[in-house]
Amino acid sequence: MKKDLLRILDLKDREILSLISSGSDWKRRGRKKNAPRPLAGKSLAMIFQKASTRTRVSFEAGMHRLGGHAIFMSPEDTQIGRGEPIRDTARVLSRYVDAVMIRTFAHTIATELAEAASVPVVNGLTDDHHPCQILADLMTAKEHGKDLRKMRVAFIGDGNNVANSWVEAAHVLGFRFIVACPPGYEPNAVIVKEAEAVGRGDVRIVRDPREAAENADVLYTDVWMSMGQESERKRRLAAFKDYRIDAELLRCASRSAIVMHCLPAHRGEEITEEVIEGPRSVVFDEAENRMHIQMAILEKLIKH
Ligand code: CP
Ligand code: NVA
Repeated sequence: MKKDLLRILDLKDREILSLISSGSDWKRRGRKKNAPRPLAGKSLAMIFQKASTRTRVSFEAGMHRLGGHAIFMSPEDTQIGRGEPIRDTARVLSRYVDAVMIRTFAHTIATELAEAASVPVVNGLTDDHHPCQILADLMTAKEHGKDLRKMRVAFIGDGNNVANSWVEAAHVLGFRFIVACPPGYEPNAVIVKEAEAVGRGDVRIVRDPREAAENADVLYTDVWMSMGQESERKRRLAAFKDYRIDAELLRCASRSAIVMHCLPAHRGEEITEEVIEGPRSVVFDEAENRMHIQMAILEKLIKH
């Protein structure tokens, strides 16, 4: 594997499959007292410039289960918030810890951190990518019997960071990925092009949610307003009003389709209460798998 995990395109198909298999091993071990502790004595610094529940707690608890230790850093109480350059932060942290996780705005902040850090850097979400989420989602889809090389995934809503990472995964693994979104809200065109260069998947963008959902094995959605887009609320509510996963849309999908959402969800906006609480929803499996897959990532990236 490369030194850093900043986007799905950093991984080869066999590396994704191997992380999923290792994540499943960690899941099976659960809380067993005699489980291995490969990261005993190791530390992870976690920089959060945006809010988080799952990413923060799953990385911290996962690091603890691996025998290591995690340090939470927010801009408010570190020098990051007072303008210390990210390159200096990277070089300082590299002298203390064995890996850094960052959740931030511009993806270039994460790449700059990774370039200056001598230790591995993991992307815990940027404006453009959310690789750990999609790895957990792939693990979840596999657990629910989906063929990661052949499945048909329909993404309904905003072509955001989560959608971009799905586009990359589709091309690396070779499955079909269809986004239904309003004009102007497509996945990032540069990322789509870069993923196409790997070129094994079948990625399409359509306008009609029913066309995307037709025979889908996975129906996926995410919020209409990502973190940092709160001021666009009015415009986005209008643009996305027909891009909701509801019971009617679910009927277009395959009979064995699962419904996924990275959470947090806004019931009544991108997904209905009935569907997210219904029998096809696997949203809490996805949330749980964040921890197991990240344990696999940390075990792989951090030098033992
Ligand atoms: N899905 C996800 O990344 O959740 P958090 O924002 O709570 O970390
Ligand atoms: N697209 C969302 C994902 C949150 C986990 C955001 O960036 O806010």
